[in-house]
Amino acid sequence: MTGATSGLTSGKQGLAESRPVTELQEVLPGLLAKFECNNAGGSHKVRAARFIVDSAIASGAIVPGKSTVIEKTGGNFGFGLAIVCRSHNIRVELAVGLGFSPIKRHYLDLVGAHLIGVKMLQDGATPREVVEWHLEHAEALGRHYFYTDQFSNGASVAAHEFETGPEIAEQLKAWPNVRKLTFVACAGTGASLSGIARGLISAGYVVDVILVEPAGCDSRSNVFVEHKLEGMSVGVAPPFLDWSLITETRAITHESAVAAQLAFAQRTGYLVGNTTSACLSVAIPLAATMLADQKVLSVIYDSGLWYAPALRSADNGHVGHRLSLMR
Ligand SMILES: Cc1ncc(COP(=O)(O)O)c(C=O)c1O
Repeated sequence: MTGATSGLTSGKQGLAESRPVTELQEVLPGLLAKFECNNAGGSHKVRAARFIVDSAIASGAIVPGKSTVIEKTGGNFGFGLAIVCRSHNIRVELAVGLGFSPIKRHYLDLVGAHLIGVKMLQDGATPREVVEWHLEHAEALGRHYFYTDQFSNGASVAAHEFETGPEIAEQLKAWPNVRKLTFVACAGTGASLSGIARGLISAGYVVDVILVEPAGCDSRSNVFVEHKLEGMSVGVAPPFLDWSLITETRAITHESAVAAQLAFAQRTGYLVGNTTSACLSVAIPLAATMLADQKVLSVIYDSGLWYAPALRSADNGHVGHRLSLMR
């Protein structure tokens, strides 16, 4: 196993304002993993949150100390917002669907986010309806809201195009022979897939992108089925997915994601999250076929500890219906 980090790693820190650098490791022969799970907030989404909040502060749309950030999220983007906004003295209100990981809900509370609309959600409202209700009643609630709206805020793509992608390119210098990458990824908003791929192409790499989707979902045609892989194929066509980057789409089953999670944990010792496991079910067999100048690249989006043991059981997890759909 080859572990490699660039000099950038020396800048690793815990402050939201500082530039986060996560490790790039050759976790299995031919397979490079970018450990975004080690960001403050536990996922790649903190980068999107930081870019979105910083650009809104710069434009005056968010006034620190006065504005309240509001969002609907399954968790990871919410952690990012909570961490970034805390340092700017910005209140964060989140509508989190009741089907999402309860551990994440507790942690959101712990890091200072306010979970709103719980009663409305219990009565059957969607997270979107909760956000809309709060925006409509902002004046009565005494709030000056800024809706970060991760599904329409392009600053999230910039986060990955100008930060994560170049960071990986810098780290790839530890593999000087490698010029071709097969990036195996999934899409919620599509921001990380498109941004990272573009950043690597700009750095001179030849990048094939394989989009992984749960069987029955087809983001291109806006077709979605219920599944338990929180964060990918979320029930709306990924607004930032640049389809011209996609070489191939692969449908995976829940069982293949479970098998990949276990195999990866046994071979590397890392328990990775559900969407990562889905991608690894495609990436691991592919990695064994790479030539000397090629590697497979996958993002470790988040940790499996958030979900365990939900992934193992298709029918007996902590989740209810509509688990992973954001509609
Ligand atoms: C665990 C996980 N994986 C993958 C994704 C997809 O990321 P993106 O929105 O950049 O497409 C998300 C998004 O929330 C996520 O939480």
